[in-house]
Amino acid sequence: MKEIFTKIEEASSLAKLEEIRISLLGKKGTLTASFSALRDLEEDQRKQKAKELNLLKLEIEKALATKKEALSFLELQAKLEQEKIDVSLFTPSSLRGSIHPVMLMMDRIVEYFTSMNFALEMGPLVEDDFHNFEALNLPKYHPARDMQDTFYFKDGKLLRTHTSPVQIRTMESQKPPIRMICPGSVFRCDYDLTHTPMFHQVEGLVVEEGNDSVSFANLKFILEDFLKYIFGEVKVRFRSSFFPFTEPSAEVDMSCIFCGGSGCRVCSHTGWLEVLGCGCVDNNVFKAVGYENVSGYAFGMGVERFAMLAYSVPDLRAFFESDLRILEQFK
Ligand code: PHE
Repeated sequence: MKEIFTKIEEASSLAKLEEIRISLLGKKGTLTASFSALRDLEEDQRKQKAKELNLLKLEIEKALATKKEALSFLELQAKLEQEKIDVSLFTPSSLRGSIHPVMLMMDRIVEYFTSMNFALEMGPLVEDDFHNFEALNLPKYHPARDMQDTFYFKDGKLLRTHTSPVQIRTMESQKPPIRMICPGSVFRCDYDLTHTPMFHQVEGLVVEEGNDSVSFANLKFILEDFLKYIFGEVKVRFRSSFFPFTEPSAEVDMSCIFCGGSGCRVCSHTGWLEVLGCGCVDNNVFKAVGYENVSGYAFGMGVERFAMLAYSVPDLRAFFESDLRILEQFK
């Protein structure tokens, strides 16, 4: 009898203990067999023996339970010991972030213009009609408002559709000379392969006192120089265009950086890529901010478009999907 308890006491694992339990109390266990053998005994003997067996069974169960608790504790300890995490350990697999390609391009653009003595200005993303449209020579019901699909709020405010309202805010709060750029996000209710509801622009504005102190030639020089700084040796052309807030207005094309101007899929076989809008500030804009006897130029560009071209990213959506396989290439 005693050896049963020694065996239980000496069981080295929960699995061993379970083996012992089955060998005693399982269907084919020795104690189970002893219980079965009772039926072959005489009445008196059977009662006596049954009592003994039941007592023994109770004691065995108690011993098993005690041992089980002790072993569980030890096994848990061992497991915890094994799973211990050394937080001071160096892990070479930890991920390092990178600057988003759109922000990389934004930084390069800002770098060029600050080196040319342009100051940085910021404006609110939630704008009013006056700054986003009216003061930019876009009166209510002017058809040119349709060029920009606007997100409106119930109270008549809107998400700015371009960075041009910062021109107005800057002129309202400062006197010429002004030489500023404004990088920031803008919003248009438009979503397809080449448009996202939020994107980034950089605006530029130069104003000086005197009717003819700032000319289109100044604008042409700086934009050509800027495009060469970003894209290398490209040809640049100014194509006459229309913006309500500039007169004369132009769109700027550069020779396609993928085919060198011979025509490819990216430039729709024209050899040219449209990259900027610009012009001399319209007199009505100056009137709206109370400026007199001044001249100036303004320009605006889409940062995503610049980043797509400079970093050869063929799909605009790549910038908004947070795919690490793409972003990691910009480390
Ligand atoms: N605001 C214009 C746009 O979003 C770009 C622009 C800015 C054009 C300044 C001319 C001058 O399309």
